[in-house]
Amino acid sequence: MSGHGHGRLLQYPKVPIGFAGHGLGPLVFLNHELAAVENEMNAPKKDLDWGNLGFSYIETELRFSARWRDGVWSEGELVASAEMPVHEGSTVLHYAQSCFEGLKAQTAVNGDILLFRPDLNCARMGRTTQRLLMPQVPEALFMRGIQETVRANAAWVPPYGSGASLYIRPFLVGVGENLGLRPAPEFEFRVFVSPVGPYYKGGGLSLIDLAVVDLDRAAPKGLGAFKAGANYAGGLMATQMAKELGAQEALYLDPAEHRFLEEAGSANIVLKMKDGTIVTPESESILPSVTRRSVMTLAADVLGMKTVARPVEFLKEVADIEEFAACGTAAVISPVGRVRSEDTWHRFYGNGEAIGPVTQQLYDLLTAIQKGEREDPYGWTHAV
Ligand SMILES: Cc1ncc(COP(=O)(O)O)c(C=O)c1O
Repeated sequence: MSGHGHGRLLQYPKVPIGFAGHGLGPLVFLNHELAAVENEMNAPKKDLDWGNLGFSYIETELRFSARWRDGVWSEGELVASAEMPVHEGSTVLHYAQSCFEGLKAQTAVNGDILLFRPDLNCARMGRTTQRLLMPQVPEALFMRGIQETVRANAAWVPPYGSGASLYIRPFLVGVGENLGLRPAPEFEFRVFVSPVGPYYKGGGLSLIDLAVVDLDRAAPKGLGAFKAGANYAGGLMATQMAKELGAQEALYLDPAEHRFLEEAGSANIVLKMKDGTIVTPESESILPSVTRRSVMTLAADVLGMKTVARPVEFLKEVADIEEFAACGTAAVISPVGRVRSEDTWHRFYGNGEAIGPVTQQLYDLLTAIQKGEREDPYGWTHAV
Protein backbone atom coordinates (compact mmCIF):
# COMPACT_ATOMS: atom_id res chain seq x y z
CA MET A 1 0.00 0.00 0.00
CA SER A 2 1.52 3.32 -0.92
CA GLY A 3 0.59 6.95 -0.72
CA HIS A 4 -1.14 8.78 2.06
CA GLY A 5 -4.19 7.95 4.07
CA HIS A 6 -5.30 4.48 4.83
CA GLY A 7 -5.74 1.69 2.38
CA ARG A 8 -8.88 -0.34 2.07
CA LEU A 9 -9.17 -4.07 2.06
CA LEU A 10 -11.08 -3.99 -1.18
CA GLN A 11 -8.97 -6.65 -2.82
CA TYR A 12 -10.71 -9.22 -0.65
CA PRO A 13 -14.17 -10.21 -1.79
CA LYS A 14 -16.84 -9.12 0.62
CA VAL A 15 -19.37 -11.65 1.68
CA PRO A 16 -22.74 -10.30 2.71
CA ILE A 17 -23.06 -10.39 6.46
CA GLY A 18 -25.82 -12.61 7.75
CA PHE A 19 -26.33 -14.40 4.45
CA ALA A 20 -24.14 -17.43 4.97
CA GLY A 21 -26.43 -19.44 2.73
CA HIS A 22 -25.37 -17.23 -0.14
CA GLY A 23 -22.25 -19.37 -0.44
CA LEU A 24 -18.92 -17.82 -1.02
CA GLY A 25 -17.83 -17.82 -4.55
CA PRO A 26 -17.52 -14.78 -6.73
CA LEU A 27 -19.66 -12.17 -5.19
CA VAL A 28 -22.66 -10.61 -6.64
CA PHE A 29 -24.40 -8.44 -4.13
CA LEU A 30 -28.12 -8.23 -4.28
CA ASN A 31 -29.44 -4.87 -3.20
CA HIS A 32 -30.98 -6.15 0.01
CA GLU A 33 -27.69 -7.91 0.89
CA LEU A 34 -25.68 -4.75 0.41
CA ALA A 35 -28.15 -3.00 2.65
CA ALA A 36 -27.56 -5.71 5.26
CA VAL A 37 -23.79 -5.08 5.17
CA GLU A 38 -24.34 -1.37 5.58
CA ASN A 39 -26.82 -1.96 8.38
CA GLU A 40 -24.27 -4.01 10.29
CA MET A 41 -21.73 -1.22 9.95
CA ASN A 42 -24.22 1.42 11.08
CA ALA A 43 -25.83 -0.58 13.87
CA PRO A 44 -26.11 1.44 17.09
CA LYS A 45 -23.16 0.88 19.42
CA LYS A 46 -23.59 -1.51 22.32
CA ASP A 47 -24.32 0.03 25.67
CA LEU A 48 -20.94 -0.58 27.31
CA ASP A 49 -18.90 1.55 29.68
CA TRP A 50 -16.23 1.95 26.97
CA GLY A 51 -13.88 4.02 29.08
CA ASN A 52 -13.64 1.40 31.80
CA LEU A 53 -13.16 -1.83 29.86
CA GLY A 54 -10.41 -4.14 31.01
CA PHE A 55 -8.59 -6.68 28.88
CA SER A 56 -11.06 -9.51 29.16
CA TYR A 57 -13.34 -11.52 26.91
CA ILE A 58 -16.73 -10.09 26.02
CA GLU A 59 -18.82 -12.29 23.76
CA THR A 60 -19.98 -10.68 20.52
CA GLU A 61 -22.56 -11.98 18.03
CA LEU A 62 -20.52 -13.55 15.27
CA ARG A 63 -17.15 -15.13 14.55
CA PHE A 64 -15.56 -16.52 11.38
CA SER A 65 -14.80 -20.19 10.86
CA ALA A 66 -13.09 -22.10 8.02
CA ARG A 67 -11.93 -25.73 7.84
CA TRP A 68 -8.97 -27.34 6.11
CA ARG A 69 -9.60 -30.92 5.06
CA ASP A 70 -7.90 -33.13 2.45
CA GLY A 71 -5.62 -30.28 1.50
CA VAL A 72 -8.44 -27.86 0.74
CA TRP A 73 -9.77 -24.86 2.66
CA SER A 74 -13.51 -24.37 2.95
CA GLU A 75 -14.63 -20.89 1.99
CA GLY A 76 -15.39 -19.94 5.58
CA GLU A 77 -18.45 -18.32 7.09
CA LEU A 78 -19.67 -16.33 10.02
CA VAL A 79 -21.10 -18.48 12.79
CA ALA A 80 -23.06 -17.61 15.90
CA SER A 81 -21.77 -20.04 18.51
CA ALA A 82 -18.73 -19.22 20.60
CA GLU A 83 -18.38 -22.93 21.37
CA MET A 84 -16.14 -25.14 19.22
CA PRO A 85 -16.82 -28.85 19.48
CA VAL A 86 -13.66 -30.79 18.55
CA HIS A 87 -12.72 -34.47 18.50
CA GLU A 88 -11.17 -35.75 21.73
CA GLY A 89 -8.08 -36.87 19.80
CA SER A 90 -7.42 -33.40 18.33
CA THR A 91 -3.73 -32.49 18.24
CA VAL A 92 -4.55 -29.07 19.69
CA LEU A 93 -5.72 -30.74 22.90
CA HIS A 94 -2.71 -33.01 23.43
CA TYR A 95 0.24 -31.70 21.48
CA ALA A 96 -0.51 -27.97 21.41
CA GLN A 97 -0.71 -27.86 17.62
CA SER A 98 -2.10 -24.36 17.77
CA CYS A 99 -1.12 -20.87 16.83
CA PHE A 100 -2.75 -17.47 16.98
CA GLU A 101 -2.43 -13.80 16.17
CA GLY A 102 -3.65 -10.65 17.86
CA LEU A 103 -4.38 -7.25 16.37
CA LYS A 104 -6.77 -4.38 16.99
CA ALA A 105 -9.40 -2.38 15.15
CA GLN A 106 -10.00 1.20 16.22
CA THR A 107 -12.51 3.83 15.30
CA ALA A 108 -10.73 6.62 13.49
CA VAL A 109 -11.39 10.30 13.92
CA ASN A 110 -13.40 10.23 10.64
CA GLY A 111 -15.51 7.28 11.80
CA ASP A 112 -13.76 4.59 9.72
CA ILE A 113 -12.82 1.35 11.47
CA LEU A 114 -9.07 0.92 11.03
CA LEU A 115 -6.91 -2.19 11.21
CA PHE A 116 -3.21 -1.76 11.89
CA ARG A 117 -0.80 -3.71 9.63
CA PRO A 118 -2.89 -6.90 9.35
CA ASP A 119 -0.59 -8.07 6.54
CA LEU A 120 2.21 -8.52 9.09
CA ASN A 121 -0.01 -10.67 11.31
CA CYS A 122 -0.87 -12.78 8.29
CA ALA A 123 2.80 -13.21 7.36
CA ARG A 124 3.72 -14.06 10.96
CA MET A 125 0.99 -16.67 11.16
CA GLY A 126 2.35 -18.07 7.90
CA ARG A 127 5.80 -18.52 9.49
CA THR A 128 4.28 -20.09 12.59
CA THR A 129 2.17 -22.55 10.60
CA GLN A 130 5.27 -23.68 8.69
CA ARG A 131 7.14 -24.28 11.93
CA LEU A 132 4.25 -26.27 13.45
CA LEU A 133 3.50 -28.28 10.27
CA MET A 134 0.09 -26.67 9.91
CA PRO A 135 -1.46 -25.60 6.60
CA GLN A 136 -0.94 -21.96 5.69
CA VAL A 137 -4.02 -19.77 5.95
CA PRO A 138 -4.14 -18.05 2.53
CA GLU A 139 -3.86 -14.28 2.77
CA ALA A 140 -7.28 -13.74 1.20
CA LEU A 141 -8.92 -16.07 3.74
CA PHE A 142 -7.07 -14.50 6.67
CA MET A 143 -8.02 -10.97 5.62
CA ARG A 144 -11.60 -11.85 4.79
CA GLY A 145 -12.00 -13.61 8.13
CA ILE A 146 -10.87 -10.47 9.92
CA GLN A 147 -12.83 -8.09 7.77
CA GLU A 148 -16.10 -10.01 7.99
CA THR A 149 -15.82 -10.54 11.74
CA VAL A 150 -15.13 -6.89 12.42
CA ARG A 151 -17.88 -5.67 10.11
CA ALA A 152 -20.40 -8.11 11.55
CA ASN A 153 -19.56 -6.90 15.06
CA ALA A 154 -19.27 -3.20 14.24
CA ALA A 155 -21.58 -2.37 17.14
CA TRP A 156 -18.87 -3.68 19.46
CA VAL A 157 -16.09 -1.49 18.07
CA PRO A 158 -15.42 1.13 20.75
CA PRO A 159 -16.19 4.69 19.66
CA TYR A 160 -13.47 7.16 18.75
CA GLY A 161 -11.88 8.78 21.76
CA SER A 162 -13.00 6.14 24.26
CA GLY A 163 -9.47 4.79 24.71
CA ALA A 164 -10.76 1.27 24.01
CA SER A 165 -10.41 -0.86 20.88
CA LEU A 166 -11.66 -4.07 19.33
CA TYR A 167 -9.16 -6.87 19.90
CA ILE A 168 -9.11 -9.39 17.03
CA ARG A 169 -7.98 -12.95 17.63
CA PRO A 170 -7.35 -15.09 14.53
CA PHE A 171 -6.24 -18.62 15.41
CA LEU A 172 -5.61 -22.01 13.88
CA VAL A 173 -5.87 -25.38 15.63
CA GLY A 174 -5.30 -29.01 14.66
CA VAL A 175 -8.53 -30.99 15.03
CA GLY A 176 -10.01 -34.35 14.03
CA GLU A 177 -9.55 -37.99 15.02
CA ASN A 178 -5.94 -38.79 15.86
CA LEU A 179 -3.76 -40.53 18.45
CA GLY A 180 -0.05 -40.57 17.54
CA LEU A 181 2.29 -37.59 17.45
CA ARG A 182 1.74 -36.29 13.96
CA PRO A 183 0.10 -33.27 12.30
CA ALA A 184 -3.70 -33.23 12.56
CA PRO A 185 -5.89 -34.52 9.72
CA GLU A 186 -7.98 -31.33 9.83
CA PHE A 187 -7.53 -27.74 10.91
CA GLU A 188 -9.92 -25.02 11.94
CA PHE A 189 -9.19 -21.34 11.37
CA ARG A 190 -11.27 -18.96 13.45
CA VAL A 191 -11.47 -15.26 14.12
CA PHE A 192 -13.27 -13.78 17.10
CA VAL A 193 -13.30 -10.27 18.48
CA SER A 194 -13.77 -8.64 21.86
CA PRO A 195 -13.84 -4.98 22.86
CA VAL A 196 -10.94 -4.27 25.22
CA GLY A 197 -9.44 -1.54 27.33
CA PRO A 198 -5.81 -1.36 28.50
CA TYR A 199 -3.88 -4.60 29.01
CA TYR A 200 -2.13 -3.52 32.17
CA LYS A 201 -4.06 -2.06 35.08
CA GLY A 202 -3.72 1.67 35.29
CA GLY A 203 -4.92 2.34 31.78
CA GLY A 204 -3.61 4.45 28.92
CA LEU A 205 0.04 5.24 29.21
CA SER A 206 0.87 4.13 32.74
CA LEU A 207 4.03 2.76 34.29
CA ILE A 208 4.53 -0.96 34.78
CA ASP A 209 7.18 -3.06 36.49
CA LEU A 210 8.77 -6.25 35.13
CA ALA A 211 10.57 -9.04 36.95
CA VAL A 212 13.14 -11.56 35.75
CA VAL A 213 12.26 -14.94 37.24
CA ASP A 214 14.07 -18.26 37.10
CA LEU A 215 12.14 -19.68 34.15
CA ASP A 216 12.67 -19.51 30.40
CA ARG A 217 10.02 -18.64 27.84
CA ALA A 218 11.75 -20.28 24.90
CA ALA A 219 14.60 -22.62 23.98
CA PRO A 220 17.42 -21.45 21.68
CA LYS A 221 16.05 -23.23 18.63
CA GLY A 222 12.54 -23.68 19.96
CA LEU A 223 9.34 -21.75 19.35
CA GLY A 224 10.22 -18.35 20.78
CA ALA A 225 10.05 -16.55 17.44
CA PHE A 226 6.63 -18.01 16.65
CA LYS A 227 3.20 -17.24 18.02
CA ALA A 228 2.57 -20.82 19.10
CA GLY A 229 0.03 -21.49 21.85
CA ALA A 230 2.59 -23.73 23.56
CA ASN A 231 4.77 -20.73 24.44
CA TYR A 232 2.02 -19.22 26.50
CA ALA A 233 1.10 -22.22 28.66
CA GLY A 234 4.78 -22.34 29.63
CA GLY A 235 4.72 -18.66 30.52
CA LEU A 236 1.77 -18.73 32.90
CA MET A 237 3.91 -19.67 35.87
CA ALA A 238 6.53 -17.03 35.08
CA THR A 239 3.83 -14.36 35.01
CA GLN A 240 2.48 -15.60 38.32
CA MET A 241 5.96 -15.52 39.87
CA ALA A 242 6.54 -12.00 38.52
CA LYS A 243 3.23 -10.87 40.02
CA GLU A 244 4.19 -12.33 43.38
CA LEU A 245 7.28 -10.11 43.24
CA GLY A 246 5.06 -7.06 42.66
CA ALA A 247 5.56 -6.75 38.89
CA GLN A 248 2.88 -6.87 36.19
CA GLU A 249 4.72 -9.25 33.90
CA ALA A 250 7.79 -11.48 33.54
CA LEU A 251 10.87 -10.28 31.68
CA TYR A 252 12.89 -13.01 29.99
CA LEU A 253 16.63 -13.24 29.45
CA ASP A 254 18.15 -15.41 26.72
CA PRO A 255 17.61 -19.10 27.44
CA ALA A 256 21.21 -20.16 26.71
CA GLU A 257 23.16 -17.88 29.06
CA HIS A 258 20.61 -15.75 30.89
CA ARG A 259 22.61 -12.62 30.16
CA PHE A 260 20.88 -10.95 27.24
CA LEU A 261 17.48 -9.25 27.24
CA GLU A 262 14.77 -11.04 25.31
CA GLU A 263 11.23 -9.79 25.85
CA ALA A 264 8.35 -9.62 28.28
CA GLY A 265 5.60 -12.25 28.45
CA SER A 266 3.48 -10.50 25.84
CA ALA A 267 5.52 -7.58 24.60
CA ASN A 268 8.88 -6.76 23.00
CA ILE A 269 11.33 -4.32 24.57
CA VAL A 270 12.49 -0.94 23.27
CA LEU A 271 15.14 1.04 25.14
CA LYS A 272 16.28 4.61 24.94
CA MET A 273 19.92 4.58 25.91
CA LYS A 274 21.63 7.51 27.64
CA ASP A 275 23.68 8.08 24.46
CA GLY A 276 20.45 8.88 22.61
CA THR A 277 20.10 5.70 20.57
CA ILE A 278 16.99 3.56 20.48
CA VAL A 279 17.89 -0.09 20.98
CA THR A 280 15.79 -3.21 20.73
CA PRO A 281 17.14 -6.61 21.78
CA GLU A 282 18.06 -8.94 18.92
CA SER A 283 17.65 -12.68 19.40
CA GLU A 284 16.37 -15.66 17.46
CA SER A 285 13.93 -16.57 20.21
CA ILE A 286 11.95 -13.29 20.38
CA LEU A 287 8.53 -12.91 18.78
CA PRO A 288 8.83 -10.35 15.97
CA SER A 289 6.37 -7.77 17.30
CA VAL A 290 4.42 -5.69 14.81
CA THR A 291 4.27 -2.84 17.32
CA ARG A 292 8.00 -2.91 17.99
CA ARG A 293 8.82 -2.84 14.28
CA SER A 294 6.48 0.13 13.86
CA VAL A 295 7.92 1.98 16.85
CA MET A 296 11.48 1.52 15.57
CA THR A 297 10.44 2.95 12.19
CA LEU A 298 8.77 5.96 13.82
CA ALA A 299 11.78 6.60 16.07
CA ALA A 300 14.08 6.68 13.06
CA ASP A 301 11.84 8.44 10.51
CA VAL A 302 9.87 10.90 12.60
CA LEU A 303 12.08 11.51 15.63
CA GLY A 304 15.30 11.21 13.60
CA MET A 305 16.88 8.95 16.20
CA LYS A 306 19.52 6.31 15.61
CA THR A 307 17.91 2.88 15.96
CA VAL A 308 19.74 -0.40 16.49
CA ALA A 309 18.69 -4.02 16.91
CA ARG A 310 21.46 -5.86 18.78
CA PRO A 311 22.02 -8.19 21.72
CA VAL A 312 21.69 -6.26 25.00
CA GLU A 313 23.59 -7.66 27.97
CA PHE A 314 21.20 -6.61 30.70
CA LEU A 315 23.24 -6.30 33.90
CA LYS A 316 26.27 -4.94 32.04
CA GLU A 317 24.24 -2.26 30.26
CA VAL A 318 21.47 -1.51 32.72
CA ALA A 319 23.12 1.70 33.91
CA ASP A 320 23.16 2.99 30.31
CA ILE A 321 19.41 2.62 29.86
CA GLU A 322 17.43 5.82 30.29
CA GLU A 323 13.94 4.75 29.21
CA PHE A 324 12.64 1.20 29.15
CA ALA A 325 9.40 0.36 27.32
CA ALA A 326 7.37 -2.77 26.57
CA CYS A 327 5.44 -2.77 23.31
CA GLY A 328 2.83 -4.95 21.72
CA THR A 329 -0.71 -4.92 20.37
CA ALA A 330 -2.18 -5.35 23.84
CA ALA A 331 0.45 -3.36 25.75
CA VAL A 332 0.65 -0.62 23.05
CA ILE A 333 3.72 1.12 24.51
CA SER A 334 3.95 0.68 28.24
CA PRO A 335 6.70 2.60 30.02
CA VAL A 336 8.58 0.33 32.41
CA GLY A 337 9.50 2.10 35.64
CA ARG A 338 11.38 -0.73 37.31
CA VAL A 339 12.86 -4.11 36.47
CA ARG A 340 13.65 -6.63 39.13
CA SER A 341 16.61 -8.96 38.61
CA GLU A 342 18.50 -10.99 41.19
CA ASP A 343 16.74 -9.30 44.15
CA THR A 344 17.48 -5.79 42.89
CA TRP A 345 14.98 -3.33 41.47
CA HIS A 346 16.60 -1.33 38.68
CA ARG A 347 14.90 2.00 38.10
CA PHE A 348 14.66 3.88 34.85
CA TYR A 349 13.49 7.36 33.87
CA GLY A 350 12.55 9.65 36.77
CA ASN A 351 13.60 7.10 39.38
CA GLY A 352 11.04 4.71 37.91
CA GLU A 353 8.19 7.06 38.72
CA ALA A 354 7.80 9.12 35.56
CA ILE A 355 7.10 8.45 31.91
CA GLY A 356 10.11 9.20 29.73
CA PRO A 357 9.66 11.85 27.02
CA VAL A 358 10.73 9.57 24.15
CA THR A 359 8.36 6.80 25.28
CA GLN A 360 5.60 9.41 25.42
CA GLN A 361 6.42 10.74 21.94
CA LEU A 362 6.49 7.26 20.43
CA TYR A 363 3.18 6.40 22.10
CA ASP A 364 1.59 9.60 20.80
CA LEU A 365 2.88 9.02 17.25
CA LEU A 366 1.85 5.39 17.08
CA THR A 367 -1.62 5.87 18.54
CA ALA A 368 -2.27 8.93 16.35
CA ILE A 369 -1.59 6.85 13.23
CA GLN A 370 -3.69 3.96 14.55
CA LYS A 371 -6.63 6.31 15.12
CA GLY A 372 -6.28 8.12 11.80
CA GLU A 373 -5.38 11.39 13.53
CA ARG A 374 -2.02 11.62 11.85
CA GLU A 375 -1.11 11.06 8.24
CA ASP A 376 -0.05 7.48 7.58
CA PRO A 377 2.67 7.72 4.93
CA TYR A 378 3.44 4.01 5.34
CA GLY A 379 0.00 2.67 4.46
CA TRP A 380 -0.12 0.84 7.79
CA THR A 381 -3.82 1.40 8.48
CA HIS A 382 -6.59 -0.27 6.51
CA ALA A 383 -10.27 0.59 6.76
CA VAL A 384 -12.50 -2.47 6.93
C1 LIG B 1 5.54 -12.96 23.39
C2 LIG B 1 5.04 -11.75 22.70
N1 LIG B 1 5.93 -10.80 22.37
C3 LIG B 1 5.55 -9.67 21.75
C4 LIG B 1 4.23 -9.44 21.42
C5 LIG B 1 3.86 -8.17 20.73
O1 LIG B 1 3.66 -8.40 19.37
P1 LIG B 1 2.71 -7.48 18.51
O2 LIG B 1 3.27 -6.10 18.56
O3 LIG B 1 2.78 -8.05 17.13
O4 LIG B 1 1.37 -7.57 19.11
C6 LIG B 1 3.28 -10.41 21.74
C7 LIG B 1 1.86 -10.29 21.45
O5 LIG B 1 1.23 -9.59 20.91
C8 LIG B 1 3.69 -11.58 22.39
O6 LIG B 1 2.80 -12.52 22.71
